Amino acid sequence: MTTTFRTALLLLLLCCATQILGISIQTTPDADGGVIATELDKTVSLVCALGASSETEDDNELVWLRNSALVSLVEENKKGRSSVCVSPVIYDDNDATFTCYQRTNDTVRMSVTLNVTYPPQLSGAEDVVVEEEAELVLQCNIQANPPVSSVSWTHNGTAVDLLAGGFSVTNDGFTSQLRSRFGERGLHEGTYSCTAVSPKYGSHSKVFHVSVTDKTIKFPLMPMIAGIVVVCLTALLAIVARWKKIAKCCK
Ligand SMILES: *[C@@H]1O[C@H](CO)[C@@H](O)[C@H](O)[C@H]1NC(C)=O
Ligand SMILES: *[C@@H]1O[C@H](CO)[C@@H](O)[C@H](O)[C@H]1NC(C)=O
Ligand SMILES: *[C@@H]1O[C@H](CO)[C@@H](O)[C@H](O)[C@H]1NC(C)=O
Repeated sequence: MTTTFRTALLLLLLCCATQILGISIQTTPDADGGVIATELDKTVSLVCALGASSETEDDNELVWLRNSALVSLVEENKKGRSSVCVSPVIYDDNDATFTCYQRTNDTVRMSVTLNVTYPPQLSGAEDVVVEEEAELVLQCNIQANPPVSSVSWTHNGTAVDLLAGGFSVTNDGFTSQLRSRFGERGLHEGTYSCTAVSPKYGSHSKVFHVSVTDKTIKFPLMPMIAGIVVVCLTALLAIVARWKKIAKCCK
C-alpha cells in the first residue's frame, strides 16, 4: 500500500520534473507511444529541446545516446536544442533507442525507439549444382519485420514432397533450409522456390535451378602432398650428408 503510494508519488514527481525541466523530443514522422514506425531508406529526424524554464541556464547542453553509445554532435547542435537525423534508415536501426538528456543532469531522460519494418529479402534466381549422392542444401533468408507468417517450398511448381524426396525443412526464424542427404538426379533436379509471406508486404520468393552432376572420385590431395614433402626432405638430407663427405675428401 505504502509502496504503491510512494511509486505513484515518485511517478508524479518525475512527471512534474519532466514538466519543469521540460525536455521534449519532436519527431518526424510522429512517434506513437515512444515508437517511430519507419522503413528502410527512409529518413527520421529527432529534435530534442529544453523548455523555456531551463533555456536560460548556463548548463543547457544536451546529450544524445543511440542505445548506450554517445552520438557525436557539433558544438552548435548542443545548446538548448539538438537535432539528430537518421538517414537512410538501415536494418540495424530497427529497435534502436535514441535518448536525450541534459549533460549536467541525466535523471530526466526522454527516449524514442525506431520500429523499422522490412520485407524478407527474397528475390531472383540462383543456380545450384550438386553431385550425385552429395548433400543438397537450399536456404532462404526469411528475416523480416514484422516476422513472416509462413514459408513454403515448391519443386517444379508443386509443394515439395518431403517423404518422396527424402527432404527435411528447418526454420529458425532467420533462415529456412531445405535439405536432402543424397542428391539423386531424377528425384532432385529441377526448379525450386521458397516463398515467405509477410503480413505487411505480401509474398516474396527466391528461385533455385538445381542440377545434379555425376559423382567425381575425390583425389586424396592432402596425404599426397604430405608424402611428396617427406620424400623430398629425405632426398635433401641424403644429399647434405653426402656433401659433407665429399667436402671432407677435397680438403
Ligand atoms: C536533476 O533534475 C531533477 C529533476 O528536476 C532534480 O530533482 C535533481 O536535483 C537534479 N540534479 C542535479 C544534480 O541538478
Ligand atoms: C513494428 O511495426 C509492426 C508493423 O506495424 C508491428 O507489427 C510491430 O508490433 C511493431 N513492433 C514494435 C516493437 O512496436
Ligand atoms: C523436375 O523437373 C526436372 C527438369 O525438368 C526433371 O528432371 C525432374 O525429374 C523433375 N522432378 C520432379 C520431382 O518432378
